[in-house]
Amino acid sequence: MELDFLALDPSQRYKLLASLVVPRPIALISTLGRNGVLNAAPFSFFNALGEDPPIVIFAADARASGGAKDTMRNVLETREYVVNLVDEAIAPQMHGCAVDTPPETSEFDLVGFTPVPSKAVRPPRIAQAPVCFECRLHTHLDFNTRHLCIGEVVWLHARGGVLDPHTLRRLPDAFHPVGRLYATRYCSTREEFELDNGAYAEKANAQSAIRKFRLPPPAALRCGERRPAARACAVPDTETAWTAPPTHRRCAPP
Ligand SMILES: Cc1cc2nc3c(=O)[nH]c(=O)nc-3n(C[C@H](O)[C@H](O)[C@H](O)COP(=O)(O)O)c2cc1C
Repeated sequence: MELDFLALDPSQRYKLLASLVVPRPIALISTLGRNGVLNAAPFSFFNALGEDPPIVIFAADARASGGAKDTMRNVLETREYVVNLVDEAIAPQMHGCAVDTPPETSEFDLVGFTPVPSKAVRPPRIAQAPVCFECRLHTHLDFNTRHLCIGEVVWLHARGGVLDPHTLRRLPDAFHPVGRLYATRYCSTREEFELDNGAYAEKANAQSAIRKFRLPPPAALRCGERRPAARACAVPDTETAWTAPPTHRRCAPP
């Protein structure tokens, strides 16, 4: 199946992205409203994107009933939030926090989370969460339909026993994060495996010639020209082996 992604309906794009880019980590974000109400909500359009600066990113759409989600409103008003990670033990409560509640209702009360004061930001962290990143809003991008928030991590809390204090690596079996699949489906992270790319490294070093492929330039669209209309599945569903474009050249060994 081949799909012209930009020509799809946004809800179709959402379904495809959300069910194919899996599993996704989950940020259970705690915020503090101007009205003093503590808020917690899960976001799986989320990831850690770098360590220098240490940034995490999440994206929120609008409420189904219209208007900004409480998390988004609070983050924009206070510019502070906590990303609490989710393990199996708190997965049901995390899922409960996704219920559309009025701004004056706290998900902490709804699902029974205990707030604990954070060290560097005003919103509290969730006591039951194994790992919490205290964040300050670094950059906010407003796409009208989606808000993208890049946060700088300013403090880390990890429950005792989660980290090896010498290596700063997560200890084996310290906690079992859950991943988001789609809709109400999740996965566990209990089955880990290791890979060794030593054989490929040896092969790469042994190769005296390095192949470089030059891709053909993309077909140019003139200014104001519209993309052709969508043709879902217009291309037959057959597998074709990738071959180098005709312009490829082989570099002489150094
Ligand atoms: C596991 C999970 C992941 C979610 N990820 C997102 C997300 O990435 N972006 C988003 O806008 N909503 C996401 N939602 C929905 C929000 O959590 C939900 O709309 C919530 O009610 C927002 O709460 P708030 O108004 O208190 O911020 C997710 C829900 C679940 C259960």
